[in-house]
Amino acid sequence: MWLTPLLFPAAAMAITLDLSSTQSISSAAGTAAYNMMTYYTGNQTGQVPGLLPGSLSCDPKVTGTYCWWEAGAMWGSLINYWQYTNDSTYNSIVSESIQFQRGPEDNFNPPNQSRSMGVDDQLFWAFSALDAVESNFPEAGGDNPSWLALAQGVYNFQTSLWDTSTCGGGFRWQVYSFNAGYNLKIAIANGGNFQLSARLAYITGNQSYADWAVKVWDWMATSQLFQTEGDMLYIWDSTDSDNNCTNADHLVWTYNYGTVLAGAAYMYNYTNGSSEWESRVQQVLSSTFSLFFPSDYGGNVMTEMECEPKLNCDQDQKSFKAYLSRWLAVTALLVPSTASQIMPKLQASATGAAGQCSGGGDICGEQWYTTTYDGLTGVGEEMSAMSIFGANLISSSMVPLSLRTGATSESDPSAGGTANDTPSSQFQKPITTADKAGAAILTILACTITIGGAWWLVT
Ligand SMILES: *[C@@H]1O[C@H](CO)[C@@H](O)[C@H](O)[C@H]1NC(C)=O
Ligand SMILES: *[C@@H]1O[C@H](CO)[C@@H](O)[C@H](O)[C@H]1NC(C)=O
Ligand SMILES: *[C@@H]1O[C@H](CO)[C@@H](O)[C@H](O)[C@H]1NC(C)=O
Ligand SMILES: *[C@@H]1O[C@H](CO)[C@@H](O)[C@H](O)[C@H]1NC(C)=O
Ligand SMILES: *[C@@H]1O[C@H](CO)[C@@H](O)[C@H](O)[C@H]1NC(C)=O
Ligand SMILES: *[C@@H]1O[C@H](CO)[C@@H](O)[C@H](O)[C@H]1NC(C)=O
Ligand SMILES: *[C@@H]1O[C@H](CO)[C@@H](O)[C@H](O)[C@H]1NC(C)=O
Repeated sequence: MWLTPLLFPAAAMAITLDLSSTQSISSAAGTAAYNMMTYYTGNQTGQVPGLLPGSLSCDPKVTGTYCWWEAGAMWGSLINYWQYTNDSTYNSIVSESIQFQRGPEDNFNPPNQSRSMGVDDQLFWAFSALDAVESNFPEAGGDNPSWLALAQGVYNFQTSLWDTSTCGGGFRWQVYSFNAGYNLKIAIANGGNFQLSARLAYITGNQSYADWAVKVWDWMATSQLFQTEGDMLYIWDSTDSDNNCTNADHLVWTYNYGTVLAGAAYMYNYTNGSSEWESRVQQVLSSTFSLFFPSDYGGNVMTEMECEPKLNCDQDQKSFKAYLSRWLAVTALLVPSTASQIMPKLQASATGAAGQCSGGGDICGEQWYTTTYDGLTGVGEEMSAMSIFGANLISSSMVPLSLRTGATSESDPSAGGTANDTPSSQFQKPITTADKAGAAILTILACTITIGGAWWLVT
């Protein structure tokens, strides 16, 4: 029954997609990019550049609001969009946004976001900076740090957060101990830092980054986050340092697999094709296919299994397929032997997405396995559709550039500063409308900063 929609032409109101035509795919991606950008208000008077609605104090459960990290990811998806299509419409907004949110130490740690700053949140902005490096996206120029320096800034900051006091190592989810979730060690923070390090090794040729990537991989592999069962690798979402990470939740998400897959693909290519990394890539890839391209829906259509069939994905989760789409395409380039397995999945998923982009004005929902519009709208839905269309435009001319193969972004291995020399302004509470109500609240804030820790309990 679920197969039916795929056997018939897309419904009348949907994005038309002809996979044999570059122009058709570009145009489909352009429609999704345009619809995605209708949510962006940061370029309007009085708004903050780089942010999506709700990014100053987000709650992923609230429809229509978007956490800071997702805005960062969106800018990267538009860098990819430019590279896939040559359409530079959004380039200046992208450039301004990334630089505006880089934070006082040039490592994507702006004080407005401290209250919920996760290791993973910083990483998604760093990935966007790396996308810029790898495509020679124009530098912002002037006093702005290079794209590569911004990613190195995050690397330098995060290596000082590696925590050996529990679980034998690993990154905690949150940067600051006063944040909820500091106890958790999660796949996206660890897999994300692994990918950042692998990409820095690939881009710069500096073995120190590769050594770090191996260290993070090895910790994940021995932790409960990775569980092997026959050919299947489960990458669970989180473990808890409060019980020394003795168990994991049993949740699987597309972006965790995509993050680890691409990181392994960069390592494979960086090592000139080591068989160890090749078998890791293959294991993550085949597990990704088994979990997120279910045979119930034809076997080739990407599906966020934990929440999409029931339409209860939160705001974050609705965007995850965008990242897996991009990272599958990159893997096909970096590990050429995987391309023939990956392309049919990208193609069928794009066709499915086009059929699901059947809301008014070709707005995209999320269930790519049916052409019946599911009624959802938002940045994540549009970004996912744009990214799967774009992934079908990737070609050998878009192999990620390294400093050896033509990337021009300037390296600064000491960029950013470490968490240990973070200024106290880092502990500011985000300014909200309520705060502006009176000086009294600001006074409380000033006092609580001095005692550090749990100010949010009293405000
Ligand atoms: C902000 O960006 C959007 C999307 O690109 C664009 O349509 C709009 O005209 C811009 N607004 C301003 C005030 O620059
Ligand atoms: C983008 O431009 C390059 C070089 O000018 C060209 O080879 C490529 O086909 C163009 N891509 C699209 C999608 O038009
Ligand atoms: C931080 O918040 C303030 C108040 O809303 C705003 O003026 C400023 O531009 C924000 N900075 C960043 C980097 O978001
Ligand atoms: C916590 O786990 C690590 C890694 O498995 C182990 O080396 C360490 O001994 C454990 N600590 C305690 C207190 O159980
Ligand atoms: C290589 O990276 C390490 C780690 O960031 C850094 O300390 C070192 O200076 C880098 N070496 C070169 C030659 O850039
Ligand atoms: C990969 O091969 C290149 C070219 O022979 C060489 O310069 C580089 O050091 C090799 N990389 C690794 C990690 O062995
Ligand atoms: C690394 O990627 C490049 C670009 O696609 C490819 O030509 C090369 O064969 C890859 N290296 C290996 C060892 O597969």
